[in-house]
Amino acid sequence: DDLDLGGHAHFMLKEIHEQPAAAAAVIAGRIDERFGTTRLGGLNLTPRELRAFKRVKILGCGSAYYVGQMGAQMIEDLARIPADAEAASEFRYRNPIIEADTLYIAVSQSGETADTAFAVQEVQRKGGYVLGVVNVVGSTIARAVDGGVYIHAGPEVAVASTKALTNMGIAFAMLAVQLGRVRDLSVADGKRILAGLQAIPGQIAQVLADAEPAKAIAAELIKGDSAFYIGRTRGYPVAREGAQKLKEISYIHAEAYQASELKHGPLALIDEQMPTVAIIPDDELADRNLAAGEQVLARKGPLVVIAHPGVDVSALKVPTIRVPKNEPELDPILLTIPTQVIAYYAALALGLDVDKPRNLAKSVTVE
Ligand code: G6P
Repeated sequence: DDLDLGGHAHFMLKEIHEQPAAAAAVIAGRIDERFGTTRLGGLNLTPRELRAFKRVKILGCGSAYYVGQMGAQMIEDLARIPADAEAASEFRYRNPIIEADTLYIAVSQSGETADTAFAVQEVQRKGGYVLGVVNVVGSTIARAVDGGVYIHAGPEVAVASTKALTNMGIAFAMLAVQLGRVRDLSVADGKRILAGLQAIPGQIAQVLADAEPAKAIAAELIKGDSAFYIGRTRGYPVAREGAQKLKEISYIHAEAYQASELKHGPLALIDEQMPTVAIIPDDELADRNLAAGEQVLARKGPLVVIAHPGVDVSALKVPTIRVPKNEPELDPILLTIPTQVIAYYAALALGLDVDKPRNLAKSVTVE
């Protein structure tokens, strides 16, 4: 039975551990090895139509919005089409400019979020083409859109989204490859990303097996009333989603900041009471991210790190969770997993209702 806890203490923990299988399900049958591309069958667009889009605008709410930001980066990186994500709840109210050569993408686990559904209608009313990235088959948004990608995460019960988000990230990567391969992405680069995608299920299992430091990190975070999550470029949406998770289920205030912006204001808040979670991918900004960590420590701020194995964090001497390296474009998907586990253990340690946080609903069907 899908609605069974299957031996786990909470649905959130069960769903966290379902991620390797869920990730395999969203990829299955959608890879075209020979041509280094993906075959997403439900887009309802010919390669020529897919090629004609000049921009991409991704719309979602809450965690779906943050994973949309990851998706926009993947699309810019792999397809070289200007892309951005916006909160659907804002977009629908601000008389947005709708263009026929922009590809709109609505992202929603439930497919029932009213703000996102209205954003879809607003785009369509003004002649725009909308794809859905949706989990629940036959949901309101899935039926309304012009084409789409089901993420096949299976039923998600916990209010805090985990496996659906991971699968949304993977779906965006696959869409980015398909958009890229009708443009300038080479067969070799397409194959590089496909290999990275196929490694993700096993790597998620590895992250979960190595997530023991998450308990100590959670214990550190619950000492304060507030925390920073910092990351830059590809690490920034990871920080936003990490902060969102902590807020949703532990009720600890958490704010995501670009590590580069720390010195332009929030550094003033750092003291013994203000912990920071730093996301440090093994990329060209690793040294700068480490320097931001040093600045936090210099002001006596507790620091914890989520980093790739290639990042030398030894000088910081702080609790660290290691995440396996993948292709740079795909790294945010795996870097997000420890933030789920940290939030889970924080809420657990505080004795809170992990699966049903106060004031929140799994899908917000009201305006
Ligand atoms: C609610 C939940 C969030 C979720 C958002 C979007 O606000 O509290 O956790 O991310 O809805 O849900 P959706 O079903 O559209 O992905």
